[in-house]
Amino acid sequence: MTPNEPAGSAGAASVDDAVGAFADAAGTPTPAGDSRTPILRARRLVKTFGRVVGLDGVSLELYPGEVLAIIGDNGAGKSTLIKCLTGAEVPDEGEIWLEGQPVHFKRPQDARAAGIETVYQNLAVSPALDVAANLFLGREERKKGLLGSVFRVVDQKGMRQRARQELAALGISTLQDVTVPVENLSGGQRQAVAVARAAAFGSKVVVLDEPTAALGVRESNQVLELVKNLRDKGIPVILISHNMPHVFEVADRIHIQRLGKRAATITPQSHSMTDAVAIMTGARRG
Ligand SMILES: Nc1ncnc2c1ncn2[C@@H]1O[C@H](COP(=O)(O)OP(=O)(O)OP(=O)(O)O)[C@@H](O)[C@H]1O
Ligand SMILES: [Mg+2]
Repeated sequence: MTPNEPAGSAGAASVDDAVGAFADAAGTPTPAGDSRTPILRARRLVKTFGRVVGLDGVSLELYPGEVLAIIGDNGAGKSTLIKCLTGAEVPDEGEIWLEGQPVHFKRPQDARAAGIETVYQNLAVSPALDVAANLFLGREERKKGLLGSVFRVVDQKGMRQRARQELAALGISTLQDVTVPVENLSGGQRQAVAVARAAAFGSKVVVLDEPTAALGVRESNQVLELVKNLRDKGIPVILISHNMPHVFEVADRIHIQRLGKRAATITPQSHSMTDAVAIMTGARRG
């Protein structure tokens, strides 16, 4: 029994089906006794690709200051879900609220402008540019005065200084030199740049799709530390991962996707890794 699953739902196909009437009447179900307002909330998202159903009525809640992991088998709809939340895909149906306000993102830039920073599964850093330039990609700061306003001269010195400050604030100590091209960095350092970029601009929410999938043990641990640092700074994080030990180490709550639906939302306290895998594969209900 999960904290947010109503009694008597055995036999229902998913949590969202099971709580349909309840959710309509009383809003999205929250963990027992939890009266907080979600910073980001989605209700009954549907996304189809031709005849393939990517999302089949998925709801999700992200609360302030938490790490919400999303787990599920390949093709369960994890990436599609976060793409719908971050403007990379537009859902066919369903509603999304950010800080209680309805939002309708058409492009990733829309979500970014609203304070949602995303590191997609296919990592987007520009290898030929240096660390500082990557951090400010698409947000270059101009020099003060006419040089900046008229001639659009980029304030490289200022950006490098700010890049150092941002990295230090996030506890990233492996990137001493922000003038190094990103192509010369290790996989973990590149990921750190992407995460730092996500964190550096006063974001309200940071979304990471499989940030440790291609990384070694040490590099993965660095990224996990970053996720914790973000949370400690008060920035909630949505983290997609296949790595159960990682998920159970950092997540406050775990959203389990199965066949395009939310099968359950659990916590590391309420369920074991074996339980989580069983729900993921359909061997067990939440
Ligand atoms: N652009 C697309 N065109 C067609 N089908 C798509 C598209 N994007 C996703 N799908 C399909 O939607 C379903 C969900 O895909 P999604 O990428 O969300 O899965 P996932 O849970 O992120 O999987 P993985 O763990 O492999 O990353 C899959 O069946 C996939 O083939
Ligand atoms: Mg994916």
